[in-house]
Amino acid sequence: MDTARLNEIVERYPAPAGKILGILEQVQREVGYLPKDILQFLAKRLEVSLSELYSLATFYSFFTLAPLGEHVVTVCMGTACHVKGAPELVATLKRLLGVEVDEVTRDGKFLLTTEDNHFSLTSARCFGACSMAPVLRVDNKIFGYITPDRIPAILEQFGWKESQHRGS
Ligand code: FES
Repeated sequence: MDTARLNEIVERYPAPAGKILGILEQVQREVGYLPKDILQFLAKRLEVSLSELYSLATFYSFFTLAPLGEHVVTVCMGTACHVKGAPELVATLKRLLGVEVDEVTRDGKFLLTTEDNHFSLTSARCFGACSMAPVLRVDNKIFGYITPDRIPAILEQFGWKESQHRGS
């Protein structure tokens, strides 16, 4: 995305309320994520701190700070899902997808993408489906009452192949 297009987007959102969110949403839609150089440009252009933009970008699950794979696997790390085994789901997904998550936090601030860009693994706070905990979502499809042994069959629906993706 070039500077002219960014300026065009900034001009399109003249009202102070919601202006920054609107701009970030448009960039996310057009670029697919919020690159650091674009956030730096916008911070200067909008006269706000870079940390303010990062706070917004990390607060709303719609935004990502890195490109996403073709399919996004999101594990709910909200309280209900956490106590019913979400960390074990993350551990299984790491192993099956061959990606590393150093630390699993309650609000899950990780985003990892397989080398072939087929899958990204991330987490969210709550999908509003706590009665089906633990829950995970692949793209827009929700899967409830998940146990680690169900995960390979779910991933296969989205093109996962054990020989291709499984880590050591
Ligand atoms: S805590 Fe997982 S869906 Fe609500």
